[in-house]
Amino acid sequence: MEKKRIAVLLSGRGSNFDALAESVAAGRIPETEIALVVSNREGAPGIEKARARGLATRVIPSKGLEREAYDRLVVAALEEARTDLVCLAGFMRLLSPYFVEHFGGRILNIHPSLLPAFPGLEAQRQALEHGVRFSGCTVHFVDENLDAGPIVLQAVVPVRDDDTGETLAARILAEEHRIYSEAVRIVLEGRYRIEGRRVIRDAAGR
Ligand code: GRF
Repeated sequence: MEKKRIAVLLSGRGSNFDALAESVAAGRIPETEIALVVSNREGAPGIEKARARGLATRVIPSKGLEREAYDRLVVAALEEARTDLVCLAGFMRLLSPYFVEHFGGRILNIHPSLLPAFPGLEAQRQALEHGVRFSGCTVHFVDENLDAGPIVLQAVVPVRDDDTGETLAARILAEEHRIYSEAVRIVLEGRYRIEGRRVIRDAAGR
């Protein structure tokens, strides 16, 4: 059987990319390869990590381009790499309707809060400042809205009295690395259906 091909889009550190790459290498995401890693920023540490792993990389700078014009370049690169599933991992751009329609139902994102609470930037700091006792992370399908789309997996972490934005983010990040791989495996196996906003897994797929 031909391996499934994931593409990862990132803009920065790339720790979620690295966790996915590690899971692929270790067989926790079986029958899969990372076909391409794309960054919109030259010098993103995540792209360096991908190069160090010997993976195919593309830096596609977004400067001066309209959203859809940019997305057309990215989609072309993803198609050239015969991408089955797009994984956003700290990709700091909203996708255009063109992109979302092109890869409909085949785009995942990870967000560092229990959505729908605290969408957008600095979700960990938003959670801390709001005073919630628990936060966490969410892997969800991407639609045309920000941090929306059906939820595949979530993980919960406690918020401690002595937390700072940094300590809470670190606790959440450990869970991000765990559930992103699990969600990618679930989605690539295809043993689920979507009813409204709910992602319902087949009994055998649990
Ligand atoms: C993560 O917190 C992720 O949830 C958010 O952006 C951050 C990316 O971190 N979408 P990294 O680049 O994967 O280390």
